[in-house]
Amino acid sequence: MGEMQGKVAVVTGAAKGIGKAIAERFAREGAYTVIVDFDREVGEKTAQEFSAYARSEFVHADVSRFDDLAQVRETVFDHFGRVDVLVVNAGISYLHTVEEISIEEWQRVLKINLDGSFYTIKAFYNDFLSNQGKIIFITSGSGITGTGGGAHYASSKAGQHGLMRTISKELGPKGVNVNAVAPRVIQTDILDHLYPDEASRAELVKKIPIRRFGQPEDIANLTFFLASPESSYIHGQIMLADGGRTY
Ligand SMILES: NC(=O)c1ccc[n+]([C@@H]2O[C@H](COP(=O)([O-])OP(=O)(O)OC[C@H]3O[C@@H](n4cnc5c(N)ncnc54)[C@H](O)[C@@H]3O)[C@@H](O)[C@H]2O)c1
Repeated sequence: MGEMQGKVAVVTGAAKGIGKAIAERFAREGAYTVIVDFDREVGEKTAQEFSAYARSEFVHADVSRFDDLAQVRETVFDHFGRVDVLVVNAGISYLHTVEEISIEEWQRVLKINLDGSFYTIKAFYNDFLSNQGKIIFITSGSGITGTGGGAHYASSKAGQHGLMRTISKELGPKGVNVNAVAPRVIQTDILDHLYPDEASRAELVKKIPIRRFGQPEDIANLTFFLASPESSYIHGQIMLADGGRTY
């Protein structure tokens, strides 16, 4: 009997990468998982995979559109009748200088990473007023150091930290734990895309004291802990999972 039996976990950007590993961990523990993503093909496959553990459904949404998220909320309540854990994970990144960042690229990153986070919270906010649930943002050490992504990425991630802190003040008194997991250098498509050649990756790994890239499961473990009763006194925090890269 898994620890999460009967609970409903909604994870945005869960078709692949970190979000997928998080959703898989919840599914293995018996939670019903809702895979929210704008990649329909991969997202549907992911939900199908997790159905081996517990009921899992894909819901198509672009998190940069509030209407999509309002629809996700409706579907979750039609199909499952509740939400217990919300993981705000969907995000994109480009390693560009200010000179290279077009206005359009700036807006796209902010729209998905920051507006998308707010829209996700806004869609489910009222449900968390009465469920004593858990909200976990997947942010980035870049929001603290300003490295590892462009100005748009670091700004969006720092913005998520502000959002997380505000929500923790609003929802803490309702019995909801709200925290952020700040990963860095996790082996996913984002990392491959930012550091495509061997030389840049070898250089990067030297900056990580434990000398390896993180795996999506490293983030899933911490996220799962933050969704469990064992972490109930951890609240409003940014928890780095970065192999010691940041401090
Ligand atoms: N990989 C890292 O090293 C790293 C480090 C720090 C933070 N993060 C953060 O972790 C999160 C997940 O990143 P990842 O490395 O797994 O990336 P990824 O590219 O492997 O996965 C991101 C997922 O989000 C989905 N997505 C992107 N934009 C979307 C949108 N507008 N609407 C719905 N779905 C959307 C993608 O389709 C994909 O399934 C991001 O917020 C990222 O900023 C990653």
